[in-house]
Amino acid sequence: MPPEPSNGVAAPVCQVDDYFHNTPPPKTLASHQALVREFIQYHLENSPSRRIVLVTSGGTNVPLENQTVRFIDNFSAGTRGATSAEYFLQQGYAVIFLHRRFSLLPYSRHYSHSTNCFLDFMNESDDGRVVVRTEYQDEMRKVLQQYHHAKDNRLLLVLPFTTVTEYLFELRSLTVMMQPLGNRALFYLAAAVSDFFIPRDRMEEHKIQSREGHAGDQGSGAGRQLVINLDPVPKVLSTLVQSWAPRGSMIVSFKLETDPSLLVSKAEQALKRYHHDLVIGNLLMTRKWEVVFVTPDGGERWIRVPKSRRSKSISGVEELVGKAERKHDPEPVDLEGGTMMDGVEIESLIVPELVLMHTKRMEQQS
Ligand code: PMT
Repeated sequence: MPPEPSNGVAAPVCQVDDYFHNTPPPKTLASHQALVREFIQYHLENSPSRRIVLVTSGGTNVPLENQTVRFIDNFSAGTRGATSAEYFLQQGYAVIFLHRRFSLLPYSRHYSHSTNCFLDFMNESDDGRVVVRTEYQDEMRKVLQQYHHAKDNRLLLVLPFTTVTEYLFELRSLTVMMQPLGNRALFYLAAAVSDFFIPRDRMEEHKIQSREGHAGDQGSGAGRQLVINLDPVPKVLSTLVQSWAPRGSMIVSFKLETDPSLLVSKAEQALKRYHHDLVIGNLLMTRKWEVVFVTPDGGERWIRVPKSRRSKSISGVEELVGKAERKHDPEPVDLEGGTMMDGVEIESLIVPELVLMHTKRMEQQS
């Protein structure tokens, strides 16, 4: 069964309602709600013109057992979300960072999950103190200063999720709580959300046994298979746009494809289906170097890191850059971005463009 109808119609609201009705909320929801309430209130009282962006980041997982030993996951490391969050902070936004637990975080991402272990950035001095190695001083000072600025000014709220259920409950609650922000709210939905899940009433309580028979077992011995039936996760974007999000807010979703010939048309379909403001399309193999902004007026605008300033990527395929382009852009956006240790980060080009669009939208509404 496909995760969404193929006739261009969004999941009916009742499917979304049924999902929330039939699925137990995560235990962390109430404590996260308290943090969000306080964060939003703080900014409404202390900096009433402050814009707040909700950045979702990383992959969701789908447990196979209630007492979870095994789960289905996806590739997302949270690079897009964590990196974008930093550039939004640089642009003066406050950021609610809803991310997959243990995926990349703003600022610490420079020293975690990297090819260099964080210990490689440090040395022991002659008098026995732990110090940052000379060659990393400038870079690390910059990151540390930005991190402290965000922390000291309460500009960054970090909330983790693990499962798709946690993600959807958190997303609904956060979006509704952002309503008092009106058009100052921006939604940047970069998480890679699972399309299928096992409903609570069909989930095994205990670890699925590999030897003993159980409902999903086919046959016996070495050739046995585990057959799992997954239900589609309802697409919540339409409900988010129509009911949860503040009026006038700007809503940006991402679309990931692997086939270049599908990317732009799938992004257009998403806009028609969900009626939001922008889809940022990206291909798995080129996502670090190019994205496309697809807008409801038929716009297809490519943003690319100039060839000479592209970072290395083990999984990326540079020959695919440009292959998903449908309308040739006479003036491709070729901007100077923020340089980190290895090349220009595409998020340093994406975020300022979005900020301009958000500003324009707010001006049109005033
Ligand atoms: O983390 P990285 O490794 O840097 O990778 C970043 C990324 C490639 C994951 C990111 O740039 C990206 O493309 N994320 C979106 C992936 C995707 O195609 O999602 P989707 O087709 O499942 O969903 C499209 C949109 O619908 C999403 O913005 C999501 O918010 C929304 N959605 C998804 C599932 C669901 N049940 N309801 C939804 O509304």
